[in-house]
Amino acid sequence: METKRWNIQRGTTINKQFISEAAALLKAGETVAFPTETVYGLGADATNKSAVAKIFEAKGRPQDNPLIAHVANVEQLQQLVDNLPEYVDDLIAAFSPGPLTYVLESNGACAENVTAGLSTIGVRIPDHPVALELLQACNFPVAAPSANLSGKPSPTTADHVDEDLNGKISGIVDGGPTGVGVESTVISCREHDVVILRPGGITKEQIEQIVPVAEPVNETVDKPASPGMKYKHYSPDVPLWLVDGDAEKIQNVIAEETEKGRKVALLARDAILELVEADLKLSLGSSLEDVANKLYDNLRKVKRTDVDIIISEVFPESGIGQAIMNRLKKAKTDYIP
Ligand code: TXA
Ligand code: MG
Repeated sequence: METKRWNIQRGTTINKQFISEAAALLKAGETVAFPTETVYGLGADATNKSAVAKIFEAKGRPQDNPLIAHVANVEQLQQLVDNLPEYVDDLIAAFSPGPLTYVLESNGACAENVTAGLSTIGVRIPDHPVALELLQACNFPVAAPSANLSGKPSPTTADHVDEDLNGKISGIVDGGPTGVGVESTVISCREHDVVILRPGGITKEQIEQIVPVAEPVNETVDKPASPGMKYKHYSPDVPLWLVDGDAEKIQNVIAEETEKGRKVALLARDAILELVEADLKLSLGSSLEDVANKLYDNLRKVKRTDVDIIISEVFPESGIGQAIMNRLKKAKTDYIP
């Protein structure tokens, strides 16, 4: 299959012709990748079961992992769900459009493979001008997981999407690099409180300003609250170790590996990179927001190098740091001293 590409650079006027071509492919039951403020999504008409099946096929995604329905506005969100708890209006007013996904009772408007047979559906309004234009042009909900091969780091540029899915999808709308860099926060909206199923772009602290955040109930591997979280994720092509400690400790671990003849990449903020020697330095900038923004691109970069191992610093688990550490802990391999 030929994968068409439309270039809409961020900050320039959005080319309406490109948007209507992409929307027409979605309407015809095809898959099209598009930018959001978090990561690129792989979209299909959420009301069309065979279109949605093409997403699972292209990504190699397990069939029991439900997809998020993307909509342009609150009215469209309301058309997909039942029993909206009152506090959700306040969350929407505060954080939507934005990187927050509401898991609510589904009213069955979307195809059954979107929710993987669950009675709930995840819905979000992305905060990206290209995504919003595309969703408005579609006028139907667009199911969209991250546009990567299952198990790989999520794509933050159109080239990342191309690397994983060229030839497997109908098109890619290139809207430049995404902003947040990690995926949306997924919350289960219960009657009087929420449970964070996946930390992401909106922090626990932000949500707590509006509604109590309850601790997750005992998840079992057979029946996790968020099915996607049980699979291996975000994996770079070489082992990744997390080293909890200062520059000196990190340098010692690197020295041991170098001794064994291994080439080491160091994934860290500039303050540490400046103090430590490594074969390859992968810069995550300085703030935790920089780290989120640069994380997946750097995890993908090692593919084009000859390093044997990535060593990453451990980040504080406050604010967006919760999402960063959640992803790194899923991406890491066990430390072999
Ligand atoms: O930022 C994002 O959320 C990106 C962009 C494209 O919007 N999308 C994304 O989708 O990350 P995906 O499919 O890679 O991750 C969605 C997560 C999975 O862990 C899935 O299991 C969970 O949300 N999820 C979706 N629907 C759910 C539901 N009804 N109940 C529980 N978890 C759900
Ligand atoms: Mg994903």
